[in-house]
This record gives sequence, C-alpha cells and structure tokens, in this order.
Amino acid sequence: MAGSITLPLRAGSWHGPFDAGTQTAARAALEAGRILLFPTLPFALSPAEHTILATPGLATPGRAPLSTGGARKNLSYDPATGALGPSPLAGADREAMARLLARFGAEAEALLRALLPTYAPALVRARASFRPAEIAGRAYRPRQDDRRLHVDAFPSRPTGGARILRLFCNIADDGAPRHWRVGEPFADFATAFLPRLRGPLPGHSWLLARLRLTHGTRSPYDWLMLGLHDTAKLDTAWQSTARATELSFPPATTWCCFTDMVLHAALSGHAALEQTFHLPVAAMAEPERAPLRVLERLTGRTLETRSAAGRRKKVVLS
Ligand code: SIN
Ligand code: FE
Repeated sequence: MAGSITLPLRAGSWHGPFDAGTQTAARAALEAGRILLFPTLPFALSPAEHTILATPGLATPGRAPLSTGGARKNLSYDPATGALGPSPLAGADREAMARLLARFGAEAEALLRALLPTYAPALVRARASFRPAEIAGRAYRPRQDDRRLHVDAFPSRPTGGARILRLFCNIADDGAPRHWRVGEPFADFATAFLPRLRGPLPGHSWLLARLRLTHGTRSPYDWLMLGLHDTAKLDTAWQSTARATELSFPPATTWCCFTDMVLHAALSGHAALEQTFHLPVAAMAEPERAPLRVLERLTGRTLETRSAAGRRKKVVLS
C-alpha cells in the first residue's frame, strides 16, 4: 500500500537532470495525491551549520507552552524579504541560518524546476522552515496539532485556490526517521466532511483582511479548506479510526507532495527542512484534480473570488 502512496525517484543531484518519462510520471503522481520520494537526496551541511542547527533552545524542548499553540516549533524564512522569524539566534549565527534556509529553498526550487518543467513558469517559492522540535510527546492545541490527519490550510494565508506544494528533507544526524500517516483520497475525505461545515458570517472575510489578520481576502474556497482542516483535526473519534498508511522517512530522505490534497499527519521526528511553493491551478496538467475543482463539483458552486485570484501574487509573497 505504501508503494502506491509514494513514487520513489532517483536524483543524482538537486539539479536533476530527469528524463521526459520521469517528469511526466512525477507530475501525474503529484496531481493524483501521491508523494514523490527521493530515498537518497541529502542536503549538505557544513560543520559550522551543524553547530548552529544544534543551538540549544532553537526548539522549545519537551512540552511546548499551550499558550503558544506550539507556535515556536519552527524557524521560518521568507525568501521575498530575506527575513528570518523569531529565534534565539543573533548576529552571524542568525545570518548563517537565513543563508542556509535560502540555499535550501534554491536547491528545492532547482529540483522541482528540473523535475516539473511545465510547472516552472508558474511555480512561486514561498516560506521555508527548519523544524528542530521533536514532534512526539509535545502538547498542542488540537487545531495546531499536526499529529492529527489534515490537509494544509492556513488561517492567515489564504491561497484563493492556488496549490500548496511542499518539499521536506530529513536532516537529523542521529538516525531518527520522520514518521507520517497518510490518509484516504481527498475526494472521499471532502465528501464525508463537507456536509458538516458551516459557512462564514457575511462580511467576515472582508473584515479579516481589513484588520490585516489575513494576507489577502479569504475566498469561499479558503473557508471550506479551513473548515475541512479544523473539522478533521477536532474529530478525535475519526482520527483514531481513519484509514491511514504509516510512512517512515529516514535521514537524507527528501519528499514532496501537494499538502492541500494529501491527508497527512506528522507523528514523530526532529530536524527537518521544509520549503513551500504555490502553484496556480491553471498550471496543472489535470486542473480538475485540484481541491478547488473537487470542492466546486461537490458543492455545485464557484469557489474562487476575483479578489482572491487578483491578489494571488501578493498573497503568496507577503
Ligand atoms: C505538517 O505539514 O503537517 C507537518 C509535516 C512535518 O513537519 O513533517
Ligand atoms: Fe500539514
């Protein structure tokens, strides 16, 4: 079963090259909700970088304070501004960390451009993160608990329908794998959960955008995706009975999937790098497979709004 969820690929380097057959197979697998797996694609780190990554306190150890919702579990980097999020790092170490995440993002982008050339003109590199905290054994609020199966949808970052494509690399130097669970196909999940969602109050999206609580305005699509994300995470009974396959990503493994479509949960592991990309639905080979189009078919409604589509570039980069 795990074999059909993942598509193992060989990459000699982060720059490819990949033959046409591999490129087509990779795109079809991603769009069908599978995970591209590079079993031996390590991200090279210098000894100085290893030392910075091991800085004590980079991750909140043990139980994260519930008040933060586990918010300090990652260090994030915005390639549009070059800014690194809050961390205990200062001075040269802080700059080195930002450079490391920028380099990882550039390598991740080179890989995807070589592997998915038809996406290349439309692919937008968004935030990168370093995830130092051990996932297992922490306390999270249910909505922030990525150990529960979910599709990605972020309250402050509406996409308006654009896809969320994420690439991960396990850089643990103690042999610790990263464990995921992967659930049922998106259409089955959405069919079961959509009837349980309640719509937003009129004017709510506009108000959130005016108050700058969201980067851009939430479209009907964004509301539905957030509803699916929250309803799934809050349904403890479903979480324990849902059909799911466990995957183990050892160190030096790199993997990539559309996390707005693949039902996923990260159960354990520490020290991963992650790079997020956005892709307009129109750039897909089979746009009808996008969650936007699946949800439109299931609801019988148009779920894109002009404001969300028009602001897409700003939404992605800000
Ligand atoms: C997630 O996107 O839910 C977390 C994935 C991970 O950190 O492995
Ligand atoms: Fe997620």
